[in-house]
Amino acid sequence: MCGIIGYVGGREAYPILVKGLHRLEYRGYDSAGVALCNSIGELNIYKAKGRVSDLEDFCKSKDTVGTMGIAHTRWATHGEPSNVNAHPHYSESENLALIHNGIIENYAVLKEQLLQKGYHFQSSTDTEVLVQLIEYVKELNHVDLCTAIQLALGQVVGAYAIAVIEKGNPDMMIAARKSSPLVLGIGRDEFFIASDASPIIEYTNRVIFLEDEEIAIVRRHEQPKIVTIGNVEKTREIIQLEMSLGQLEKGGYPHFMLKEIFEQPRTLRDCMRGRVNVECNNVVLSGIIDNKERFVNAKRIIILACGTSWHAGLIGEYLFEEFCRIPVEVEYSSEFRYRNPLIYPDDVVIAVSQSGETADTLAAIELAKESGAFVYGICNVVGASIPRNTHSGSYTHVGPEIGVASTKAFTAQLLVLSMMALCIAREKKTLDEKRFLKLLIELDAIPAKIESILGNNDLIQNLSNTFTYAHNFIYLGRGYNYPVALEGALKLKEISYIHAEGYPAAEMKHGPIALIDSEMPVVAIATDNGMYEKVISNIQEIKARNGRVIAVVSENDTVVKGIADYVIEVPVTEDCFDPLLTTIPLQLLSYHIAVNKRRDVDMPRNLAKSVTVE
Ligand code: F6R
Repeated sequence: MCGIIGYVGGREAYPILVKGLHRLEYRGYDSAGVALCNSIGELNIYKAKGRVSDLEDFCKSKDTVGTMGIAHTRWATHGEPSNVNAHPHYSESENLALIHNGIIENYAVLKEQLLQKGYHFQSSTDTEVLVQLIEYVKELNHVDLCTAIQLALGQVVGAYAIAVIEKGNPDMMIAARKSSPLVLGIGRDEFFIASDASPIIEYTNRVIFLEDEEIAIVRRHEQPKIVTIGNVEKTREIIQLEMSLGQLEKGGYPHFMLKEIFEQPRTLRDCMRGRVNVECNNVVLSGIIDNKERFVNAKRIIILACGTSWHAGLIGEYLFEEFCRIPVEVEYSSEFRYRNPLIYPDDVVIAVSQSGETADTLAAIELAKESGAFVYGICNVVGASIPRNTHSGSYTHVGPEIGVASTKAFTAQLLVLSMMALCIAREKKTLDEKRFLKLLIELDAIPAKIESILGNNDLIQNLSNTFTYAHNFIYLGRGYNYPVALEGALKLKEISYIHAEGYPAAEMKHGPIALIDSEMPVVAIATDNGMYEKVISNIQEIKARNGRVIAVVSENDTVVKGIADYVIEVPVTEDCFDPLLTTIPLQLLSYHIAVNKRRDVDMPRNLAKSVTVE
């Protein structure tokens, strides 16, 4: 949801800002802009509808000199993608330039007040209201920029990460945040602010994660100062990040998504490292061990998430109920937060999020905490808001996921949920030791099994040619594979723009079967597990109505191979770990269909990686 970056230092700002925007483009990509302040304090803003590359083209003939600047890549909320709605926005006098990620909820009221004071607005954005408000407050009260920002933010309802620079002041940038992420990078006599560390890491790994309602005053040649909106000075710890530049590049793959699909054997090994120990017959997640009483005594687990992470949560429900015998509810964070839910102090809430910044999940976490529940986060991004706002948690450790459609983060979420379930089951003694060891050995073998599935990439690519022009798809699965069907359908929708729905296979006959005809491809997950026979019956029902079936089957399968039109094989595993394998061919199928359709696989239309608005 919009990426922001700012720079103050000794180098030319423009190349750093544009490179940073490319790294942040996954957050939003409908328009982009940059504001530069040169050494005599002149302020220039350039903006372009489209991608960051369109901004670069536009700027070729422009004066981009300046060692301080701010830049933005947008995911439209208020006002269509256009040059005028792109950020940065000027204030009325054009003395201030501001970029913003988030939503100013009371912008309409503030705008009306400013219109009455004679302010004019060029754009339809909520952001322009904020920069005008800051200028208005500054002039009215004859205060400096920082005080004006504090006073203005005091009037704002909503979420923001902002950066502001001022004409005539080439040495100072001010940034602030509430409910939208903001990282401050501390280099050698140069400073960065950004929505995440990806554009900073090339220059420094020393960062400070700003907290809600904090303001960073970044002055050339001085250490940044952090104050709150209420003007209380804060000391924040500088964190050394371990991220590497290679993780942010495509490494020879045509798309980040394909790279991330192929990284999964390694990312899952990384995620298990130091946690799963087959020799010692043990799974150790420190977040669970340190809080084992909470988990052992939990009367209920509530899993909160959105999108793909919610699908992981559904599989978590099966895992916790089977292994730990704890009742589980899985909720969309966006519904949970507004429905006055019953939450008890002996509930354990698990929030699942790749980005750790999803606005609805953050709000749902706050609600759960207010009711006294213990909140555990599963997150990929180190230092993100969710790990900082939960009582404990586990990182998925898969490195940055840049493709907008989640792949490696999803499988790592499944792995963490599996390890959690095993760890809690051991503490609760709800699994016998023999079964525990068998599961552990199987979990350890999953990365190698994924490697063998990835070896089918060419076959899946060929298969994708047959289905590129389908208008609809149905995905079916049962048991542990039902959420995989949902996830397979979501992946296809997101990147190919083909309409797809996932169902529990047995639900077909309760309505959706009316959709089946010879035009309808049905992806059925029919691996050799406890639901195998049942899924075969469901496939027969589809075939009897001329549906075209692509089945994901186990390597040893003989029956489904004789019924389905096409099959993709996966190795055999325990039922509970099937999703870790069956997900992979569905990721590849979506990817190849999207590539055939010439879609922008890594940045599909209308989407953004990190959903920081509700
Ligand atoms: C789909 C996808 C989204 C996210 C959802 C939640 O590929 O990535 O559905 O899963 O927006 O995001 P996180 O996991 O960051 O909370």
